[in-house]
Amino acid sequence: MSILTVEDNKIWVIRTHRADYAIHVDSNGALQHFYWGEQLNTLDEFFEASDQHVWIWESEEGISREEIMPWGKLNFAEPGLKVEFQDCSRDVVLRFDSSVIEDNVLKIVLRDVIKQLQVTVHYRAYDEFDVIERWVEIANIGQESVVLEQVMSAVWHMPVYPSYRLTYLAGHWGAETQLRRELLLEGKKVIEARRGITGHNHNPFFMIDFGETTEENGSVYYGALAFSGHWKVVAERTPYQFLQIAVGINDFDFRWLLKAGETFVSPVSVGGYTARGYGDASRKLHGYQQKHVLRNGDQLRKVLYNSWEATYFDVNEENQRILAQKAASLGAERFVVDDGWFGARADDTAGLGDWYVNKTKFPNGLGSLIDYVKSLGMDFGIWVEPEMVNPNSDLYRNHPDWVYHFPNRHRTEGRNQLVLNLAREDVQAYVYHAVDELLSTYDISFIKWDMNRYFSEPGWPETEMGRDREVWVRHVHALYDIWERLQTKHTQVQFESCAGGGGRVDMGIMRYADQFWTSDNTDALDRLRIQWGHSHAYNSKSMVCWVTENVNFMNGRQIPLQFRFHTAMMGTLGIGMNLNHMTEQEMKEAAAYIAQYKAIRPIVQEGLCYRLSPPEQSDVTAVEYVSQDGQEVVLFTFRHAQHYGHPALPVRLRGLDPSSRYCNSETGEIRSGQGWMSRGILLRLKGDYDSALIRLTLVGD
Ligand code: GLA
Repeated sequence: MSILTVEDNKIWVIRTHRADYAIHVDSNGALQHFYWGEQLNTLDEFFEASDQHVWIWESEEGISREEIMPWGKLNFAEPGLKVEFQDCSRDVVLRFDSSVIEDNVLKIVLRDVIKQLQVTVHYRAYDEFDVIERWVEIANIGQESVVLEQVMSAVWHMPVYPSYRLTYLAGHWGAETQLRRELLLEGKKVIEARRGITGHNHNPFFMIDFGETTEENGSVYYGALAFSGHWKVVAERTPYQFLQIAVGINDFDFRWLLKAGETFVSPVSVGGYTARGYGDASRKLHGYQQKHVLRNGDQLRKVLYNSWEATYFDVNEENQRILAQKAASLGAERFVVDDGWFGARADDTAGLGDWYVNKTKFPNGLGSLIDYVKSLGMDFGIWVEPEMVNPNSDLYRNHPDWVYHFPNRHRTEGRNQLVLNLAREDVQAYVYHAVDELLSTYDISFIKWDMNRYFSEPGWPETEMGRDREVWVRHVHALYDIWERLQTKHTQVQFESCAGGGGRVDMGIMRYADQFWTSDNTDALDRLRIQWGHSHAYNSKSMVCWVTENVNFMNGRQIPLQFRFHTAMMGTLGIGMNLNHMTEQEMKEAAAYIAQYKAIRPIVQEGLCYRLSPPEQSDVTAVEYVSQDGQEVVLFTFRHAQHYGHPALPVRLRGLDPSSRYCNSETGEIRSGQGWMSRGILLRLKGDYDSALIRLTLVGD
């Protein structure tokens, strides 16, 4: 990143590939937002005098655009920081103290005018993707404790426009990441999680435009929070046309005791700008994730087989061997045993917490199955849910105080389970050792780490006064720490983040996760929408998609094998059906799709994704991937249902070099990039659930 500092270090311009982000210290010493958008030509343009209008009843603070927006004076906007001091004063007024650029991070130190409270605002930019990471560090440099009531990682200020539109992801279990887009009028639009994990209902991701942006044109400000717990994004539009987006840990039920000398570091909020539409915003996020966030981002993901939908809790060595042999014959590269292999786990009422192998189901331990799986040329993966305990387990019988609870009150169960209190060090040690033991004993290459309920009664009665509401954050920190320690010791083991499907998908866990289980909903038609939404925020390599049974359990829908494969081939491919139910012919077809997927895998997993035709707007969904070197193109098209005998409309490609020529590998037709983009491809999709995978290759100018 390049940071231009002007006027005795009182103006900073963070310049990325195509964007500028400028901040300055005003005459009062407050750190103010100045500009964010397309790169400006000359630095003079940053110096234009502001002609800020001040309304009667509204103070300067009221319409100010501080980078932190602390609660104090006449500032009534959603605060970026709210604290309580021991003398009961609760306002903060931050003034510039110093600045430094260290390890490519711009740090601006601010201090309260009275109290010994120091706030350091951090900025780190990624040029290529026009992305800026922001976070804050709050240091108590005084002698008295301070209580933090609200700490946002960033307040992002939008340029003033007459109209603002918010894009976000909403849904529920089985219907994650549904794309939503709405105009913002005066007031606040809040998307959030208050449930302990990232959640299925909203995702910590947003895009803002001015009402005219399309998929490939127009300004988009995009952002996210890299955190897997209790979060909120508040888009607040004032009557004076300003829009600010406050992004951070949810202040609901949150308190953090900051004792003398202690520091609190917020999660990272990511923000970016493009003038080239939602599609470019997503591609920038995808690239940034692949290069700088996603664990093992530079490696291709394997095709896995997972036995959950085939055997559910009824796993045993014999049935897994049969499935493993069949999965290997299809070309799967990893075999994953899901829930049911441990403790007294016969269904979801017992066993969680007892992470030892069930000897009735696996009399030889897991070793002989693993050897067999490896002899078939696959690596071995296993499901765990270590943050949980069933009351019907040895762990709970021995340690009933290890779960979140309020004293003398009922402990509400979800899926017959309670949440372990990861804020406790003894619980952290237990969870770490349980998984470490498993990975040290067996040759395991992959962990599917699940989490199957939200928090309730989030109490921690054993802690010192004033710390009990820290669990919302401590749980997440402990989880990250456990994953990091496991990954440092077992470097080769890959991790999948799962929470009843896509309940823990975010850029915080992404630093430790190689992939996400996108949704428990494997109905290929529903999946088109789920994956469409998911692709707005997250790259396809991280998005795991299984092909499962016909009839699908979710809607009872029957969809041809080709359509199911094509849908799942748009991310990291997995197979999840009971292979014993497949005919010989279906097995042959499945093997061919898997071979085809392996051939296009680098393009899908690492290429540039162009969303051509949205599932909800016509009867065709189309998504295109262009390889990083621009040589290869893969186009997926899906006809949901044909009506009135209408032919499918042509699909126009994007992202090609207009003057180069590309050949359709199937038909041999050669056209210029411009031709494929302007005239498009005629689709020969007929009836219901028809689909096609079309490949183009660059053949030169
Ligand atoms: C969750 C996961 C599923 C499966 C089950 C096992 O629902 O999302 O994929 O692992 O748990 O109980």
